[in-house]
Amino acid sequence: MNFNSAYSGKRVLITGHTGFKGSWLCCWLLKMNAVVIGLSDKIPTQPSIFEVLNLENKIEHHKGDVRNLDDIKPLIKKYKPDFIFHLAAQPLVSVSYQNPLETLSTNILGASVLLEAIREIDHPCAVVMVTSDKCYENNEWVWGYRETDAMGGKDIYSASKGAAELVFKAYFQSFFSRPDTPIRLATGRAGNVVGGGDWSKDRIIVDCIRSWTNAKPVEIRSPNSTRPWQHVLEPLSGYLALAASLYAEAPINGESFNFGPKSEQNRTVVELIEDLAVQWGFGDAKEAYFITSNTSYAEAELLKLNCDKAHSKLKWQSNLEYDECVRLLSDWYKKYYSSENGNMFEFTISQIASYEDRAQDRLISWAK
Ligand SMILES: NC(=O)c1ccc[n+]([C@@H]2O[C@H](COP(=O)([O-])OP(=O)(O)OC[C@H]3O[C@@H](n4cnc5c(N)ncnc54)[C@H](O)[C@@H]3O)[C@@H](O)[C@H]2O)c1
Repeated sequence: MNFNSAYSGKRVLITGHTGFKGSWLCCWLLKMNAVVIGLSDKIPTQPSIFEVLNLENKIEHHKGDVRNLDDIKPLIKKYKPDFIFHLAAQPLVSVSYQNPLETLSTNILGASVLLEAIREIDHPCAVVMVTSDKCYENNEWVWGYRETDAMGGKDIYSASKGAAELVFKAYFQSFFSRPDTPIRLATGRAGNVVGGGDWSKDRIIVDCIRSWTNAKPVEIRSPNSTRPWQHVLEPLSGYLALAASLYAEAPINGESFNFGPKSEQNRTVVELIEDLAVQWGFGDAKEAYFITSNTSYAEAELLKLNCDKAHSKLKWQSNLEYDECVRLLSDWYKKYYSSENGNMFEFTISQIASYEDRAQDRLISWAK
């Protein structure tokens, strides 16, 4: 469905709004004239996209911990949100090795507390919980995972996301499946997102930009890992389509949806880096990196999603070709690191507008 008008004038609560995806989501919702309320515990990186875009002055910004019912409930009571997007998490596999308990607590208890908090909502509200493609038991097979496949996780981060999905299902069946409840909810699963303004540690694009802005080649540890790279606006268009459909009472309540790129867009780490290096201005892309086998933790080799369900039930599909994704990514950082970086909020909004234009040209349902 077209979600352009679904958010105008609506109150939208985002947990994790100061993070990478959360900040892009704030921008898109502001562009659609929503009233945005955010709850996060901190500014997670330095620099931070949230600060670069000066979002604190454009939305209702709140500091709090998603594991604390007393931080969430008053916001729900005060703003009576029409939509909630739960993005707050510890999102890094590497950090989950260093801080397993913190990861489990943020990702499982945080999701549980959010679900507990929304039980008291007595007005129509659509809730999308963001988990990850890593929630699946990874069999390292060549097929895309479907929403009905088993949850699992060989590392702490993945297990935390699989567990958050199980908690979601239990809450839905226990409290939200009655026809008279005004709350409608679903989960969104996506992975390997790239885009301007990500400064998280141990993410390959971030490592590239940090090295290249210091005129150094980037170290790559798993050059041949294949990933389904997608621009951050792709899963966000999925979450927005999902929440709008829930709100419009499409028969998808309590379900989960995958959002990923077409499989022909899968690329190895080294292919992505070489393409980005060309966009960045390297004459010889091979000078942009060097390879070591210095991996300090195990990460799954191959994981892709089957997105037929989102296509069939939400009419959602990914919008960008791989080259367009790389260009949007590179343009954002080039603009930020240029001497006249100007108004990055306006630039980010212009990237969203061009993404919407492409979707319209391609007759994608949410943009028609
Ligand atoms: N970026 C990716 O490639 C990717 C891939 C798959 C899934 N995801 C999921 O998408 C969501 C957003 O990821 P991101 O990349 O924007 O991460 P991020 O680290 O940029 O943002 C995380 C946000 O959560 C907030 N947060 C963390 N712990 C909190 C707590 N206890 N209480 C309140 N707020 C807390 C942080 O302050 C930040 O605002 C996460 O659920 C993540 O697991 C991300």
